[in-house]
Amino acid sequence: MNPLISPPNGPLVVSTVPSYKADGIPLQLSLIFPTYQESQNIKELIDQVCSVLDKVLPGAYELIIVDDNSPDQTWLVAQQLSQYYPQLQVMRRVDERGLATAVIRGWQVGQGQVLGVMDADLQHPPEVLEGLLQACITGADLAVASRHVEGGGVSRWSLARRITSRGAQLIGLVLLPEVVGRVSDPMSGYFFVQRKAIADIKLNPLGYKILLEVLGRGMVERVQEVGYVFQERQQGTSKVTPRQYWEYLGHLLQLRLDRLPVRRFLTFGLVGLSGVVIDNFFLYLLSDPHTLGWGLTRSKIIAAELAIINNFWWNDRWTFGDLAAEQNKATQRGLRFLKFNAVCAIGLGFNVLLLNFFFNTFHLNRYLANLLAIAIVTVWNFWINLKLSWRSSG
Ligand code: GDD
Ligand code: MN
Repeated sequence: MNPLISPPNGPLVVSTVPSYKADGIPLQLSLIFPTYQESQNIKELIDQVCSVLDKVLPGAYELIIVDDNSPDQTWLVAQQLSQYYPQLQVMRRVDERGLATAVIRGWQVGQGQVLGVMDADLQHPPEVLEGLLQACITGADLAVASRHVEGGGVSRWSLARRITSRGAQLIGLVLLPEVVGRVSDPMSGYFFVQRKAIADIKLNPLGYKILLEVLGRGMVERVQEVGYVFQERQQGTSKVTPRQYWEYLGHLLQLRLDRLPVRRFLTFGLVGLSGVVIDNFFLYLLSDPHTLGWGLTRSKIIAAELAIINNFWWNDRWTFGDLAAEQNKATQRGLRFLKFNAVCAIGLGFNVLLLNFFFNTFHLNRYLANLLAIAIVTVWNFWINLKLSWRSSG
C-alpha cells in the first residue's frame, strides 16, 4: 500500500520541471481526482481509468487522488486500493479544502508533462481520456472534454440545472469574454493541460472551476475540445451548493481585476483626468451664472466633446500607442476617432443621466455629481474602447 503523500503548502505554483521522476521513467501524464465522500465510487473509477490508460500509456502515467479528509474515509479506501495499483497515489488534506485547490496541490506533486483532472464519481467517461491525450500529443496546450460540442451532452439534467449551467456560462462571457469564450464548456472539470502552460504561474482559484483559472492565468495558445456525455451519478451526491455559485462569481471578478491591463488603465485614467479638467473648465465657462450662464445639458455636451477630442489625441499616441502604431493609416485613425467618439458619446449619455440622477435625486453638489458620473463612465469608456476602437479597427 503506497504511503499517503503529504500535501504541499504555500503558494499554488506548479513547478516547471518535476521534482523527481518515479524510477526514471519520464512520466507523461499525472491525472488528478479531487474527492469528497466518494468511497463508493473509487474502486470502479480506478478500474475503469487504468483499463483505458494501460492501453494508451502503459507505465507512463500516475493517478493522484486528493481527498479533503472525507468523513467516509475515501482517502483510506483509495490507499488500500493502491496496493493493487502502484500508479495510484493518495493525498489526504486536512488543513485546506476546495475542489480547485485540491487539483493544483495534486498537480504540484505530479511528475507528468501533461497534467489532467477528472471527477471521481464516474460522471466523466474514461474512454474520453484517449481523445484528450491524443489532442495533447498533436500539440494542444489544453484539451477539454466538452458537453457542448459534437458528441457531447448531458444525460437526464433537469431544465433548472441546464439553465443554471448555461446562465453561469453567460455571466462568464459578459465578465471575461476573452477567457470564458475560448471554450464551449468552461464549467468542465475534465481536461488535460501541458505543464509548461501553467508552470511557475501563481494560481489563485476560488471554488470549483479550475478550468477558469487555467484559461485565465495560464499561457494557453492552442485549445482542443473532445465531446463527451456527462453521465448520471450512480453513488453519492453532488457537492455543489449555492456557495459554489457565489465562489464562481467571485472567481470571475477576481480574474477580471487581475487581468485588467493596469498600466494602460492608469494612463487612460490620467488622460481622462486631463479631459475632466477641460470638461469642468468649459462647463464652468459655458454654464456658470457668473460666465455665459448657458443651460446645463447644452454646456455639458459641448464641454464633453472638447474633452473627448483631447482624450482621443492623447490615448491614440500614449495609452494605446502600440496598438495605434499597427494601424496608422489616416483612414484607420479616422475610424478609431469615430468609434472613440461613439463609445464616449454613449458614455456621455450615461454621464448626463448619472449627473442628473446624482444632482436631482441625491442633491449632490453639481461638480461632485459630475466627478462621480465621470469615474463610472471611465471604466465603461476604457473597456469598450480597448476592445472596439483600438483592437478591431485594423
Ligand atoms: N478534494 C475535494 N474537495 N474534492 C471535491 C470537493 C472538495 O471540496 N467538492 C467536490 N469534489 C469532487 C467530488 O468528489 C467529485 O469527484 C468532483 O469534485 C466533482 O464534484 P461534484 O459535486 O460531483 O460536481 P458536479 O457533479 O456538480 O459536476 C460539476 O462540477 C464538476 C467540477 O467542476 C460539473 O460542472 C462538472 O462538469 C465538473 O467537472
Ligand atoms: Mn458529479
